[in-house]
Amino acid sequence: MSDIAALPDLLERCRKICAQHGDRPDALIEILHAVQAEYGYLNDDALKGIAHALNISRAEIYGVVTFYHDFRREPPPAHVVKLCRAEACQAVGSEDLAQHAEARLLGHPSIGLEAVYCLGNCALGPAALVDGELKARLTPAAFDTLVEALEAKA
Ligand code: FES
Repeated sequence: MSDIAALPDLLERCRKICAQHGDRPDALIEILHAVQAEYGYLNDDALKGIAHALNISRAEIYGVVTFYHDFRREPPPAHVVKLCRAEACQAVGSEDLAQHAEARLLGHPSIGLEAVYCLGNCALGPAALVDGELKARLTPAAFDTLVEALEAKA
């Protein structure tokens, strides 16, 4: 992933990504995903470059970016914990775990906490993805241990 702030050719790269999608405004979501996959998030310059290439307003793009939860306007945290909040995990304590996790991660900008709805690991809930690695039967104590391991990596 490139550092978006240190990229002098961001506008040109956005234009190329748009061209790869035929400069079609109806491909906006795919284009946004492609730019975000390359740079990690979508800053104002990226939105400006995409708007110019597609000949649409920045307001239109901003509406799409803010509507879909998957698009980021800020650099992503170093680590991401995706905690399952769906029914099977709720039945075994994921809501209490989520409250614990939110409190534990207060003041930790390097560790992001996101809700997801079923990771396909329902029999072993509460389940989570920690930097893409599936974790099962999480307890508050096990969550704290995971956070300590992430902090040690930072
Ligand atoms: S409900 Fe949590 S993994 Fe399926």
